[in-house]
Amino acid sequence: MPDIYYAGIDLGTSRSSITTSTGKRLSVETCVGYPKDVIAKKRLQKDYLLGGDALDNRLAVNLVWPLAEGVIRDDEQALQATALILRHLIEVGLPEKQEDDQVYAAIGVPAQASIVNKKALIDLCEGFIDKVLIVSEPFAVAYANDRFDECLIVDIGAGTTDLCRIHGTLPEPEDQLTLKTAGNFLDAEITKAIHAKYPDVQLSARIIRTIKEKYGYVSETADPVKVTLNTQGIPQEYDITQLLRECCLSLANPISKAVQQLVGSFDPDFQERLRQNILLAGGGSRLKGIDLAIEKSLQAYGGGRVECVQDAEYCGSTGALKMSMEMPAEYWERI
Ligand SMILES: Nc1ncnc2c1ncn2[C@@H]1O[C@H](COP(=O)(O)OP(=O)(O)OP(=O)(O)O)[C@@H](O)[C@H]1O
Ligand SMILES: [Mg+2]
Repeated sequence: MPDIYYAGIDLGTSRSSITTSTGKRLSVETCVGYPKDVIAKKRLQKDYLLGGDALDNRLAVNLVWPLAEGVIRDDEQALQATALILRHLIEVGLPEKQEDDQVYAAIGVPAQASIVNKKALIDLCEGFIDKVLIVSEPFAVAYANDRFDECLIVDIGAGTTDLCRIHGTLPEPEDQLTLKTAGNFLDAEITKAIHAKYPDVQLSARIIRTIKEKYGYVSETADPVKVTLNTQGIPQEYDITQLLRECCLSLANPISKAVQQLVGSFDPDFQERLRQNILLAGGGSRLKGIDLAIEKSLQAYGGGRVECVQDAEYCGSTGALKMSMEMPAEYWERI
């Protein structure tokens, strides 16, 4: 008898993860690197590299980030890269799977991609997933946390921040809102601000991301942030305390506004419940003080309560796994 395996996948802009019914989980950066030329190919001995391997060989490969803007770009290369990442997650996540075993997978994707790319995503899974369910990522987060009563999920990712009102049913389009202000946007703001103040320092995407993840904050007080950066190869210490906070606020403020908007346009009988049940998820929810900053912005509207999920890295794929094991047959797409 063939076995059935279940898997929950969080297909993110910067990072994707899988949690399986056999208790395994792993994640990988959502990028694929193709060798730049024949020499690179000879050295790497592969047609492509995935995730961290691709990034470690950044100089020898052309990097493709297929979900850069919260949707999969409609070109062959982006679609192929997405399929390679999904296949890799299934293969590594379910090593015990035999040829004729079945895989049922729920895939959480950015809210926009769940609408725009649904059909393409289903087609991509052919050959390694037998039944698939495409869900919007914030809903998977709600599912992971058993939050089916009125609550507002705010998933602050790399490419997009997705907000979704949950009220006991599957969400409708008017319950969702997507902002481009997310992790990548903040990286660009920090880069601009540092260059404006210290024009000659040398910055890379990796340096900026490390600074942001280690020191980023929106609280009102903080220890001074001094970082060592190179200017023409010479390391020197720079104070970025104030500019870092201003950049981080340029991420937090539009999110607070969007929260107010989704609360304010909800059925008035339930607005209070919604305001008291706001859940932040995604890597951006780790930004120091962001929960309090959003709470503070709600004071003028009668206050609210904002919490961060416990497990920002895996709560999307955990929720998707739970859905894959509980969803009745009519919700699935057979491939
Ligand atoms: N401590 C931190 N402070 C601020 N930002 C952080 C922190 N840790 C991670 N991030 C940022 O969170 C983002 C990644 O979050 P996540 O993994 O949820 O995104 P994603 O799911 O790949 O993207 P999306 O949801 O847009 O598809 C990156 O921009 C990363 O730099
Ligand atoms: Mg995400």
